[in-house]
Amino acid sequence: MNAVVYQGEYDVTIEEVNEPEIEHPNDVVIDITTSAICGSDLHMYEGRTAAEPGIVFGHENMGTVSAVGEAVSTLQEGDRVVLPFNVACGFCQNCEDGYTGFCTNVNPGFAGGAYGYVAMGPYKGGQAEKLRVPYADFNALKLPEGDEHEDSFAMLADIFPTGWHGTRLANLQPGESVAVFGAGPVGLMAAYSAKIQGASEIYSVDRVPSRLELAEDHCDAHPINFDDGDPVEQIIDEHGGEVDKGVDAVGYQALDPAETSKGDDYSYQPAKENPAVVINSLIKVVRPTGELGIPGLYVPEDPNAPDDMAAQGRLGIDFGKLFEKGQKLGTGQCNVKAYNSELRDMIIEGRADPSWVVSHRVGLDEAPEMYEKFDNREAEDEAITKVVLEP
Ligand SMILES: NC(=O)c1ccc[n+]([C@@H]2O[C@H](COP(=O)([O-])OP(=O)(O)OC[C@H]3O[C@@H](n4cnc5c(N)ncnc54)[C@H](O)[C@@H]3O)[C@@H](O)[C@H]2O)c1
Ligand SMILES: [Zn+2]
Ligand SMILES: [Zn+2]
Repeated sequence: MNAVVYQGEYDVTIEEVNEPEIEHPNDVVIDITTSAICGSDLHMYEGRTAAEPGIVFGHENMGTVSAVGEAVSTLQEGDRVVLPFNVACGFCQNCEDGYTGFCTNVNPGFAGGAYGYVAMGPYKGGQAEKLRVPYADFNALKLPEGDEHEDSFAMLADIFPTGWHGTRLANLQPGESVAVFGAGPVGLMAAYSAKIQGASEIYSVDRVPSRLELAEDHCDAHPINFDDGDPVEQIIDEHGGEVDKGVDAVGYQALDPAETSKGDDYSYQPAKENPAVVINSLIKVVRPTGELGIPGLYVPEDPNAPDDMAAQGRLGIDFGKLFEKGQKLGTGQCNVKAYNSELRDMIIEGRADPSWVVSHRVGLDEAPEMYEKFDNREAEDEAITKVVLEP
């Protein structure tokens, strides 16, 4: 079958790979109907992780069950399912406590497994025609038959739960104000989650105009373009003070607002990065005793980091200020299973429709071109927000 394979910095190709098979009685194999490209894939694509060539990418997967292991009891051939990007066992202490992003059984020596991702275990990605799903009873979320809400349901594999997770890590309450840094797919889903959860005011920070427009149109957010000046000052001016809560949906490849200017392209540029800038902005813009949710990704090892500290995942965080303000923060991979069934039901009932974030649905063979475009985020007036692949 065909699959998207990482070849090295800025290079993915479509390759013929072996079809997955049932390897354990708890497995199912699915025929992929939709697999999405994620901002997290871009960290690998840009050579900013320890990823080695040969990885089949794709952790945002959905499809129909085509083979069922003999110990699987709740799934049948033909079932339509979406898979959390986390691979989890269901019975380790973290899984039992609901922290399926930190399963200690699926990736020995590490807490957490995922499909098609560096350091996340041996699981092949789903940017392919088929995917093997381990511990399938636990990991597969069943969906209504047919093809309704395909784009919305595909967002349940990662970014809708992850955006939601950002607001939960910040313990957002109805009526509170929140600043969301990053208006990529995750930031947009965080702002959308904040709207659904009844935030009073939402500030969405980015520099990509098409993304800020989506935040305004679909999340009722105040767009804050950091190419117009320090985003912290802009928010404090507009809001009349600090906000209650903050979400970092950017991560370690954050561009330093002091280094960018209007007209620059929108790709990540190591020379203009400052991996601590978003966390430090949140510490400034969130009120004393406020809370910060940090779903944006940080890594312990960055081969192309802007400096030696960052290469080891060490950041210059204003911890003294955080302490002085008595703020709390929460981080980490999203435990997708903590949210995905409720979010699915909101989609079915028409209370949520995250499909607006999908800008492109294309064939698998177009993946190499789409990686390049998505990495530029917006080019020649073409907004590339979320790309879904269809084999
Ligand atoms: N915790 C999790 O489980 C989880 C899951 C999915 C994605 N992620 C991470 O979330 C982050 C966002 O993912 P995405 O798919 O939206 O990626 P993306 O790269 O498409 O979006 C990031 C956005 O941040 C903007 N940005 C850069 N510097 C900024 C700054 N200083 N202030 C505000 N915005 C800035 C960029 O312009 C871009 O629009 C990534 O780090 C990704 O790895 C984490
Ligand atoms: Zn993802
Ligand atoms: Zn587990």
